[in-house]
Amino acid sequence: MEESVVAAVLCGLGAWLPPRVLTNEEIATRLDTSDEWIRSRTGIAERRVAGPEMSTVDMAVAAGELALASAGADAPAVDAVVLATATPDQVCPASAPQVAARLGLGEVNAVDVNAVCSGFLYALATASGFIAGGIARRVLVVGADAFTTLVDPDDRGTVPIFGDGAGAVVLRAGDADELGALGPFALHSDGALADLLMVPAGGAKQRRSDDPRDYFLDMQGQAVFRQASTRMAEASRTVLDQAGWTVGDVDRFIGHQANIRILQSTAKYLGLPQDALVVNIERTGNTSAASIPLAMADAQRDGNLMAGQKVLLSAFGAGLTWGATLLRWPALVGA
Ligand code: ACO
Repeated sequence: MEESVVAAVLCGLGAWLPPRVLTNEEIATRLDTSDEWIRSRTGIAERRVAGPEMSTVDMAVAAGELALASAGADAPAVDAVVLATATPDQVCPASAPQVAARLGLGEVNAVDVNAVCSGFLYALATASGFIAGGIARRVLVVGADAFTTLVDPDDRGTVPIFGDGAGAVVLRAGDADELGALGPFALHSDGALADLLMVPAGGAKQRRSDDPRDYFLDMQGQAVFRQASTRMAEASRTVLDQAGWTVGDVDRFIGHQANIRILQSTAKYLGLPQDALVVNIERTGNTSAASIPLAMADAQRDGNLMAGQKVLLSAFGAGLTWGATLLRWPALVGA
């Protein structure tokens, strides 16, 4: 008898956005920009902002609770938490143990993964490795970022782009041929291009700076744009080839929501019809590690993701980092 492969199977989904809405019009009252410029260049109309009373851990806990509930009230608790974030509550320690403690999960394996906007894909791969290696049977994977805390409030080049939020999934050990089974994965990086998107100060290299702008994100927008579309398309092709899927098989493409034009040109590079794109950037902006699970949750809620559909996930972020994976969408409750 053929031995079945242990795979990580998506079985719960939840997402959470902070209540404070920041519209393009409000940004335009403070900075030299306009609703028309922001919408036409990025596809963003509004984003959510975590006020000072709300942290990354708070948002991760809120999304995590919803994902655990969606995985089933009588389901066994998870035995690991992987938190994708570039904005942990403290520089040290990691935030995942605090998320696990706040969720009452006990003394579980809990770790942060920082691959910025590709973080959720890297976290899915980390959790899949825990499951395949027999280290965990059930993992809560959260993508949460308070990315607006890294944005210079006076920089019209970055303020309109970023928002805050959290999304989470539960992965369980299962079979590779089940709906919801993740993989293969393609994950890549190019640290030689780290300075295209970087917060220069506050880390071990440049601990202090007299220029307050050094504590905020410095982004070379056009170069990032070019890299993002080509890299997401390349990684997508790799996983499609490995899985034996064609581009024509893909029902939904859930890409990192950085800019609607990046999503559209990635689809063009891949030869994917534009109506396969899942897009929610209009109301969220770029939420970094939260972006893919937030888009999943919106599409699930809107009936835009159906059980059995073939779904391609791809992301690109600072580092540089990028990657892709795929799954056949599972039947989910309460997401
Ligand atoms: N309002 C009005 N004008 C603006 C604004 C604004 N908010 N921002 C920039 N401009 C101006 C620029 O100053 C420039 O003016 P100039 O021609 O007089 O010099 C002009 O608009 C064009 O600027 P570009 O940077 O060339 O504009 P572009 O079309 O490339 O759009 C954008 C800029 C939206 C940032 C785009 O490059 C982009 O989305 N890049 C990718 C960014 C991204 O995805 N970052 C996140 C990656 S994921 C992560 O890990 C964080």
